[in-house]
Amino acid sequence: MNEEHTDRVVISGARGFVGKNLKKFLSKNGIPTISISRQNFKNNKFPSLKNTSHFIHLAGIGSESVDQDSFVKVNVELTKTVINLCKKNNIKNIFYFSGLGVSKNSRSSYFISKFNAEQLIKKSGLRYTIFRPSYIIGNDDYLTKNISKQILKKHVIIPGSGKFLLQPISIDDVCKCIKVGLNSSKFSNKIIDLVGPREITFQKLITKSIHSKVKIQKMNIELAYKKALTDINFEYGVEDLNILVGNYVGNHKKLQNLCNFKFEKISLLNT
Ligand SMILES: NC(=O)c1ccc[n+]([C@@H]2O[C@H](COP(=O)([O-])OP(=O)(O)OC[C@H]3O[C@@H](n4cnc5c(N)ncnc54)[C@H](OP(=O)(O)O)[C@@H]3O)[C@@H](O)[C@H]2O)c1
Repeated sequence: MNEEHTDRVVISGARGFVGKNLKKFLSKNGIPTISISRQNFKNNKFPSLKNTSHFIHLAGIGSESVDQDSFVKVNVELTKTVINLCKKNNIKNIFYFSGLGVSKNSRSSYFISKFNAEQLIKKSGLRYTIFRPSYIIGNDDYLTKNISKQILKKHVIIPGSGKFLLQPISIDDVCKCIKVGLNSSKFSNKIIDLVGPREITFQKLITKSIHSKVKIQKMNIELAYKKALTDINFEYGVEDLNILVGNYVGNHKKLQNLCNFKFEKISLLNT
């Protein structure tokens, strides 16, 4: 029998895009949650985590700047804290959100920090699921917010050829996947690409999502990287470009085989 009993679920990064949506979804499905905030980590003071079956570790950053914490401090060090919290409170399962394309061959600081966090989790002795998401799409997601802001300025930039592939997944499907993981051991000690059924180029996704009269500018990739490196207001950060140019796609079939529901095919942003 594969079914497991779920007590309370604790979520770090609960105020972020995934966290907010997941909390709402789990509450609708009668699964109580506890949120761990940035303040909890900062003060090293946490709410009671008794009778908790799973820790969903979402807190993380995807870009660095001089006035922000570093990838190592957030993506790696907070993961150590979370593992210790699980052990101290007898929480046996941890779900971690890494990133699609993360591997032992990663060379970018963001990907390396996610890889190192994955390694800590794998070696923790806890039952783990490492999700590697592509772009997660919903109301207010990171990519949609970025493109909507550009649309308002009537000028959308596509870096390079725009021909790199993405494999977006809807936030609703992400929440349903988590529920499958909470209610069974199907995902235990696995690394799973959190990717939708459709591969689409960045160019196609953007052009399809623009309805009004907006100028689309293809920007030479060298110039785009130069701006990303030096201009804090540029639409794309270095890691955004790395992820795009990386052309990362994943194994949807494996995910589909583990989850018995139909995934949404994403070809539009909610701009
Ligand atoms: N969304 C995607 O498309 C996507 C794709 C691949 C991977 N991921 C990964 O999935 C996870 C969730 O993504 P998301 O879109 O929900 O991200 P998000 O909206 O940026 O939320 C990130 C969360 O991390 C928290 N956080 C940031 N810095 C922190 C710090 N120094 N100390 C403690 N908490 C901190 C934030 O807290 P505050 O609310 O206090 O700011 C926020 O709740 C992240 O780890 C991300 O890297 C997401």
